[in-house]
Amino acid sequence: MEYTTLGSTGTTVSKICLGCMSFGDSDWREWVLDEAEGKALVKRALELGVNFFDTANMYSNGESERILGEALEGHREESVVATKAYFQMDETDPNSGGLSRKAIEQELENSLDRLGMETIDLFQIHRWDYETPIEETLAALDDAVRRGKVRHIGASSMWAHQFAEALHASDREGYDRFATMQNHYNLAYREEERETLPLCEQEGIGVMPWSPLARGYLTRPHEDVDATLRGETEEHLYEHPYREGGGPAVNERVAELADEKGVKMAQIALAWLFHKEWVDTPIVGTTSVEHLEDAVEALDIDLSASDVEWLEEPYEPVRVSGHE
Ligand SMILES: NC(=O)c1ccc[n+]([C@@H]2O[C@H](COP(=O)([O-])OP(=O)(O)OC[C@H]3O[C@@H](n4cnc5c(N)ncnc54)[C@H](OP(=O)(O)O)[C@@H]3O)[C@@H](O)[C@H]2O)c1
Repeated sequence: MEYTTLGSTGTTVSKICLGCMSFGDSDWREWVLDEAEGKALVKRALELGVNFFDTANMYSNGESERILGEALEGHREESVVATKAYFQMDETDPNSGGLSRKAIEQELENSLDRLGMETIDLFQIHRWDYETPIEETLAALDDAVRRGKVRHIGASSMWAHQFAEALHASDREGYDRFATMQNHYNLAYREEERETLPLCEQEGIGVMPWSPLARGYLTRPHEDVDATLRGETEEHLYEHPYREGGGPAVNERVAELADEKGVKMAQIALAWLFHKEWVDTPIVGTTSVEHLEDAVEALDIDLSASDVEWLEEPYEPVRVSGHE
């Protein structure tokens, strides 16, 4: 395993973060692994040297956090655990979502309970809350850090101007600032290169892209994308604009280079991200131990500058996707 420092936090994380949306409860999403398989995935990740895990309160309605917490028993100190809040957890209770002080404090306590932990290493806001002033959210997050419930705070997909506003508000008010950005970024979706990634670079923010394999679109020829259970059943795979613009041509180039190098398409797509200076650690989602091992092996793939240029060349700007 290779390790890096997460933004300006000083925390060392593996260059692969295990995405824990893949396990919890298959009643939530059909393709999601149940408890025993989820724990086996975490166990293998630990053996491979993965020390960074990303979950969220909403994944399988809390089951992902509960399973991750149990799977990390005996390994808590050597792991770096990230979770998120924002999406409404109880449809009858509007205060179980959003980023008000009440929602943050309650959801943080619920996450700590499910994880069975006293502190969360990275507590992230899953989206921007248009109903709550950012100062209210930051004050509640800052208190959580001061109370020792959270070590660092992070943000996820939002407009660059919102992220800049939040960083500025923290500096102005003397609050802890967002240390990380978890955004939508992969070879088939590169709109983040316009504003958010340069902002993160300038501000020393740790970048941890979600859906680094475009939810599977970059792991097999585009005509076979629905060949797996997730490919067949996950609506997000079709909502994101991977098939638009130069997407199919990018997919074909990934396949061609993978063939040339004798590796898998998923490994080329990850290797491309590992070669991007502004990325700290992609959050890899998988339901397969073998695919997790592929991801680790991809760290050894050397791409030349002309490989990178060739992979990127067909990309065309597409509509923004991942936040509103
Ligand atoms: N902040 C946010 O709003 C947000 C949004 C989405 C996701 N996330 C985070 O990001 C993580 C990853 O997201 P994701 O699962 O959507 O995206 P992903 O990593 O881009 O894609 C996962 C898909 O790729 C396939 N795959 C992975 N490795 C493969 C390999 N070696 N060969 C063939 N297929 C392979 C998986 O299939 P198999 O299961 O068969 O391996 C799965 O269908 C999540 O777990 C979550 O932690 C955050």
